[in-house]
Amino acid sequence: MKIAHISDLHLDKIYKRSNYKKTLQLIEFIADGGFDHIIITGDITENAEASAFELARNMLKKLGLLNAAKTSVVIGNHDIFGGVHLAEDVVNFPAKCRNTNYNKKVEEFGAFFSETFAGTIRTSLHNPFPFVKEFDEFILIGLNSIAEYSVFKNPIASNGEISDEQLEDLETVLKIHKFPNKHRIVITHHHFCKGSVEESSPNALWRKIERQTMKLRGKKKLIKRFKKLGVTHVLHGHLHETNQYTRKGITFLNAGGSIVNGTQNEFRFNNINFNINFNINFSGSEIKHGSNVLTSPSVFPQSVLDKLTGEGKQKIIKIHQRNAPLITAAAEVYTS
Ligand SMILES: [Fe+2]
Repeated sequence: MKIAHISDLHLDKIYKRSNYKKTLQLIEFIADGGFDHIIITGDITENAEASAFELARNMLKKLGLLNAAKTSVVIGNHDIFGGVHLAEDVVNFPAKCRNTNYNKKVEEFGAFFSETFAGTIRTSLHNPFPFVKEFDEFILIGLNSIAEYSVFKNPIASNGEISDEQLEDLETVLKIHKFPNKHRIVITHHHFCKGSVEESSPNALWRKIERQTMKLRGKKKLIKRFKKLGVTHVLHGHLHETNQYTRKGITFLNAGGSIVNGTQNEFRFNNINFNINFNINFSGSEIKHGSNVLTSPSVFPQSVLDKLTGEGKQKIIKIHQRNAPLITAAAEVYTS
C-alpha cells in the first residue's frame, strides 16, 4: 500500500493564495501517482476560514479523494485559531483566540471533512478525535494535538497537548477491538522533536522562538504511552520541515514542509510504501544507496513523469530515508 503524507497546506483565499496552486499541483501529482491513500496532518487552512476549508474539500472531491478509503485528516492549530498576518492582528489575536469556541471549531473541522471520517471507530458522534481507521495491514489513529488557548501556557495558540481524555478513549477502543497483528500508526499535528537548534543553523534565533512556541506538552509521557499501545510510527507536521527521526524506537515522520518550505517551485511529501512482508520493494527500481537518488521512475508511472519537463524530470525524486517495516522516503518533486 502506497501512502502519501503531506501537511501544513495553509490554504487561504486572502493571505496565502500561492499555496493553493502549489497544493493543487501536489495533490494532482499524488492522485496521478498511484497512491492508495493520502494523509494530511493539519494546518490545512491558514486562518480557519470556511472558504479555505471549502477549497480543500473541493480539491479532494474533484480528484475523487474525498472519502475515508482515500484520505485521512487531522486538525492543526491554524484550523482552530488561525494566524497573525497584519500588524493589527498582533494586538487583536489574543482576543480572537479567547473568543474562539474551541469545541465548536473541532466539530466544524469534522463536518468539513465528514466523508473522510466515515466508518472510523470513535467514542463520540460529534468530536472526530480520537478516531481509529482500519486498513488490511495497519490502523491509523487520529489524535487532536491542539492545546486550548491560555494567556500563560499557550499565548500564541500554537502549543500542543493531547488530552488524557482522548488517550483514555483511544485505550478503550483498542481494548474492545484489539486489531491483532496490525501496525499502529498515529497521525497528529504537533512534533515530538527534542528541540535543540544549532547556533549556526540558518535562522537559528527564529528557530528557537518557533520551538518555544510550538511545543507539545508532555512529549516523553506521550511517547511512553504510545509505546505501551504498540505504536510504531507517528506522522505529523507543524514544523515546516520534511524529515524523519526516531525516539524510543518509534519512527516519526514530519511532512510540515510539503508546501511551505521556502521555495517557489518545490513540494515535498513522505512517500510511505507499506509492505506487509516488511521487505524493501521498489519493484523494477534501482536505488543508489550512496546518494539515495532513485534512478528509475518506479515510484511514479511514466504518465506522471511525462508531465514534468527538462531539468525537473532529471531530479524528480530524491529518496532520503527508508525504514522497514514501513518503507519511508521523503520525495522532493520539482516543478519546472
Ligand atoms: Fe501548526
